[in-house]
Amino acid sequence: MIEEILPPGVRSSEAFDDLAPAPLFPEEAALMAGRRARRRAQFATARACARRSLAELGLAPAPLLPGAGGAPRWPAGVVGSITHCDGYRAAVVARAAEVTALGIDAEPAEPLPRGVLGLVASAGERAALERLADERPGLCWDRLLFSAKEAVYKAWYPSVERWLGFADATVRISPEGTFTARLHPAEPPPGAPTRFDGRWLVRKGLLLTSVATVRTPAPPLPPTDPTPLPGALDRPVNA
Ligand SMILES: CC(C)(COP(=O)(O)OP(=O)(O)OC[C@H]1O[C@@H](n2cnc3c(N)ncnc32)[C@H](O)[C@@H]1OP(=O)(O)O)[C@@H](O)C(=O)NCCC(=O)NCCS
Repeated sequence: MIEEILPPGVRSSEAFDDLAPAPLFPEEAALMAGRRARRRAQFATARACARRSLAELGLAPAPLLPGAGGAPRWPAGVVGSITHCDGYRAAVVARAAEVTALGIDAEPAEPLPRGVLGLVASAGERAALERLADERPGLCWDRLLFSAKEAVYKAWYPSVERWLGFADATVRISPEGTFTARLHPAEPPPGAPTRFDGRWLVRKGLLLTSVATVRTPAPPLPPTDPTPLPGALDRPVNA
């Protein structure tokens, strides 16, 4: 399902339960020791998804441990993102040479708990959500905005290893299944992204969002013309 909102070059794997075997490496198991059964199961299934996605890039299974700020430490040259919520787990990866930032998030397609929207959305964003609800009632636009911001955070953090608050991004959602995020933290680190483009999907009681920045290939060099310009070679240089 999530592949529908990912650009080419991004590999993905998802699961809707924790029933398939999902063995952990000893380092991963140690990390989960003492954690609740639900967290352990989600962590393990998400790791299995990550290993399947990495295998599609030709990479062998290896421990996937948290690094700075909780972001997964992907193999060198890889970007990726993980999400889990009730009834859904997914991992996506891509070659860093092709995709520079990647973030995904999954949420139940239900309204946010009372009081949360005010913490995550500006007055302008809330007004936009009301317009979207008038245009297309029945969709949980508040939860979608929240999910989009979570995906933005997961794409933002690994490149700069700095906190980004909910007020530091302005998300504009299109009812056609896309969104943009303008990033305006008070003190942006040098080279920090200033904008992300994302996509969203609502299906099977789930709401999925993704953010991906695809590296634009360098423009091709202009063709060299072996034919000398008229008169170009019949004058000595500096003549
Ligand atoms: C970190 C956070 C985004 C996780 O989102 P969530 O909806 O709670 O949980 P999800 O299941 O979707 O995602 C959890 C996964 O996110 C990943 N993750 C955690 N911290 C991360 C970080 N700093 N950067 C990138 N990915 C991170 C991990 O892979 C984690 O799974 P794992 O622990 O099994 O490896 C969220 O808890 C959080 O701290 N949000 C506040 C910051 C924010 O969203 N700001 C908005 C900016 S516009």
